[in-house]
Amino acid sequence: MTASKQDESKRVVIFDTTLRDGEQCPGASMGLREKLEVAKQLERLNVDIVEAGFPIASPGDFEAVRAVAEQIKKPQIAGLARCINKDIERCAEAVAPAGKRGRIHVFLATSAIHRQFKLKKAKDEIVKQAVAGVKYAGKFCKNIEFSPEDASRTEPEFLAEVVQAVIDAGATTVNIPDTVGYAVPIEFGQLIAYLNEHVRNIEQAIIHVHCHNDLGLAVANSMAAVRNGARGVECTINGLGERAGNCSLEEFVMAMRTRADAYGGLWTGVNTKELYRASRLVSQLTGMVVQRNKAIVGANAFAHESGIHQDGMLKERSTYEIMRPEDVGISGSELVLGKHSGRHGFSSHLARMGFHLSPEELDRAYNEFVVLADKKKVIYDDDLISIMREQISEIPQVYVLDYLHVSTGTSTVPTATVRLKKDQQVFQDSACGDGPVDATLKTIDRITGVPGTLKDYAIQAITQGEDAVGEVSVQVAFENEQVAAKGASTDIVEASAKAYINALNSHLFAQAAAKKEKSKKRGARGKQGRQP
Ligand code: KIV
Ligand code: ZN
Repeated sequence: MTASKQDESKRVVIFDTTLRDGEQCPGASMGLREKLEVAKQLERLNVDIVEAGFPIASPGDFEAVRAVAEQIKKPQIAGLARCINKDIERCAEAVAPAGKRGRIHVFLATSAIHRQFKLKKAKDEIVKQAVAGVKYAGKFCKNIEFSPEDASRTEPEFLAEVVQAVIDAGATTVNIPDTVGYAVPIEFGQLIAYLNEHVRNIEQAIIHVHCHNDLGLAVANSMAAVRNGARGVECTINGLGERAGNCSLEEFVMAMRTRADAYGGLWTGVNTKELYRASRLVSQLTGMVVQRNKAIVGANAFAHESGIHQDGMLKERSTYEIMRPEDVGISGSELVLGKHSGRHGFSSHLARMGFHLSPEELDRAYNEFVVLADKKKVIYDDDLISIMREQISEIPQVYVLDYLHVSTGTSTVPTATVRLKKDQQVFQDSACGDGPVDATLKTIDRITGVPGTLKDYAIQAITQGEDAVGEVSVQVAFENEQVAAKGASTDIVEASAKAYINALNSHLFAQAAAKKEKSKKRGARGKQGRQP
C-alpha cells in the first residue's frame, strides 16, 4: 500500500533525536559538518522530525541546530530547551530558519524524586513553570512539544494534571519520557492508556514516547505505548543515546513494518531502504561500533550459519527470514570503485551517496582514495564514508602521521619508530612496548609530550576481504578529558596510530576552544567593570 492510501490515524510519527540525545552518548560527539551529513541522511530516511540539538548548551550546538534548520527542507526541525526563558529564546532563534517546520521542545522534570532533590519545587510550582515555558515558547512558534522528564516515575494523577495544563497552554505534542529506562512494557502501555482516559483535552495534542534502554526495553516499551494510543516515537539511529541509549529507530520501524498485523495496521513513513546506510554513517561519524549481532543492521543480522538454516533458506527464504536484507538497504557491500575509476567517477559516486564536497575537499579526498585504491583491489561504500569522515572533520590536524615502522615477533621486544609532522616540522622518536600498538602509542606520547591513557580500544573490519580496511576506535583520557576517535587503514597498527593522533588533535582543539572561551568571558567581565 502506498503512504497516501494509508490511514493517517494509524501513522506513527518518527522523531529522530540522534543529533541531540544520541550525541549525549559519551564519546559520540560530532562536528557541524558531520551533523549535517547525518541530518541529510535522516531526510533521505524520511523521518518526520529531526531533533537537531540543545541550542543553549553551547555555541556549537546552537550553530548546528541553526545550520540543520537552514539546510534540511523536508522534516520538522526541533531544538530542546528547559522551561527557562533564555533557553527558549535561544532555541527559537536556532530553529527559526525552518519557518513553520521549526519546533521548540521544552522539558521539565515532574517525578517526586526530581521535584524533591533536583528542582526543590512543589507540584504547583512545577505546573506553573511548565505552563509558563509552553506559553513563552508559543510567542515564537506554534509547534510546541512539552516533555515531563522522568514521566514514567511520576505519580500518574499528577502527570495527567501536568499534561492537561500544558495542552491548555498550547503544547501541540506531549512527550512521555522514560528518562531512566525504568518502565516495563505492560506498565508503560497502561500509563499511556491512563493519560488517554484521564486527560480532558488529550485529543488536542499528539502523544509521543521517548524510551531509554537501561533495561534493554526501549523498543518494547515504545511498541506498548503505540498499542495504547501514542502516535509518535522518539528514537535514534543504532539506539545511540545517554547511558544504554534510546529506542533504536531501525528496530522500532522494522518491528512496526514486519508485525503491523499485531499492531492494528500502525505504520511509519520511513524509507526502510535507507536504514542500513544511516546506521553505517552514524557509526562511522561517531566512532560508536555496531555490535555484530545487533538486530536489523548488525553484520550478522541476515547471516545464516547453520547448515539446516542454509538449506531451508535455499528452498524457501521465508523459512528462516522474516525480513529481506534488501528491505533495509543491505545488498551485500557493493563493489563501487577501483584503482582505475577517475576523479569524475569518484565525485559522482560520492554525490550519489549524498556527499557534496568543496573542490579543495574533493582534491584531498581523491588523493586519499588513490592511495587506498593502490593498496586495495576493491573500494566499497564504507571505505568511502571513512575517507569522507576525515575530510569533513573540523578538528585541525595539528599532528599528522608521516612515517611508521614497527618491529615485533615472538622473540623480539616490540619497538616502534614514528615520525610526526606538526606545521612544517618533523619529529621522530622510538619506544618499546607490550606489543606493536603499545609501542607506537608510547612513541607518539614521547614526541608530543601530551600523554594519553587508552581507556577503550576496538577494531573492526569495515569492509570484507583480506585487504579490508581495519577501523580502530579509541577512547583516550588526557588529563581530565576523555576523547573518542577513529582511524582507518589496511594496516591495523597504522589505523591505531591514526586513531590515537585523531584523539590527541581533538583534545588540543577542545583545549584551545576552552582557552578562547575563557579569555572572551574575562574580556566581557573587564568591559562590564569599566561601565559607570
Ligand atoms: O530522556 C529524557 O527525559 C529526555 C527529555 C529531555 C525528553 O531526553
Ligand atoms: Zn532522553
